[in-house]
Amino acid sequence: MLAYEMKGKGMPVVLLHAFPLSSQMWEDTACLLSTQYQVIVPDLPGFGKSPLEKDVSMEAMARKTEELLDHLNIHEPVWLAGLSMGGYAAFEFLRHFPKRLGGLALFSTRATADTPAARENRFKSIEAMEKFGIEAFARKAVKSQLGKTTQEKNPELIQKVLQLMTANSAEGAIAAQKAMASRRDSSDLLAAINIPVLILAGEEDEISPASEMKAMHEKIKGSEFQTIPRAGHLIHLEQPEIFHEKFQAFLKKCRYNG
Ligand code: MLT
Repeated sequence: MLAYEMKGKGMPVVLLHAFPLSSQMWEDTACLLSTQYQVIVPDLPGFGKSPLEKDVSMEAMARKTEELLDHLNIHEPVWLAGLSMGGYAAFEFLRHFPKRLGGLALFSTRATADTPAARENRFKSIEAMEKFGIEAFARKAVKSQLGKTTQEKNPELIQKVLQLMTANSAEGAIAAQKAMASRRDSSDLLAAINIPVLILAGEEDEISPASEMKAMHEKIKGSEFQTIPRAGHLIHLEQPEIFHEKFQAFLKKCRYNG
């Protein structure tokens, strides 16, 4: 069973975290949303308080999330939000459990699989983590995950993200890197999506560029696409006010439509 935090009452909203982070990256978002919603925030396998599993794949992450909903006796449709790796897992959830979804929020993520170059980079980072542990990797990751504005103006956030990353084990991060390297392409799902979808991209994100996310939005009928200025990949931490305003507006609209 995945470790999780749960807060609040109302429409269930599940938040899936990025790599190599944990449920803690959603702490402020969960607090804010919990005044109106039942917010469930799991630690994906090998991160935070969840043990590393034998099978760490995006599909296994989705299945474990479904198992958690059963365990919590939540059988009504949930609103599932995933940031980056959380988004890859959300696509697997959509593939396997479409009936359990009321809506999707895709942040700083993509539907496509890794390119050969991206895969090669992951294997290089695995070798480095095997030799030097998670800390050296995390120092590089904070540079690529936080945008130019944060790098220049928000040293506290850089430290906070670094702490969240290094609280995880190298073993968990290595398993997730392998899982992301072998994840399937979910582009085939896009045209058939018939639930509300919000897509948010950071304007300074070089990992999941806004142009690529816009192209994904164009393939999902009725989806909503917006960019977050002065934010890189971790949009909810870099520009929390703008991010939360857009996310809450989407959830509110869904609550009334649904
Ligand atoms: C993440 O933020 O989850 C990672 O950047 C995802 C990835 O490495 O593809």
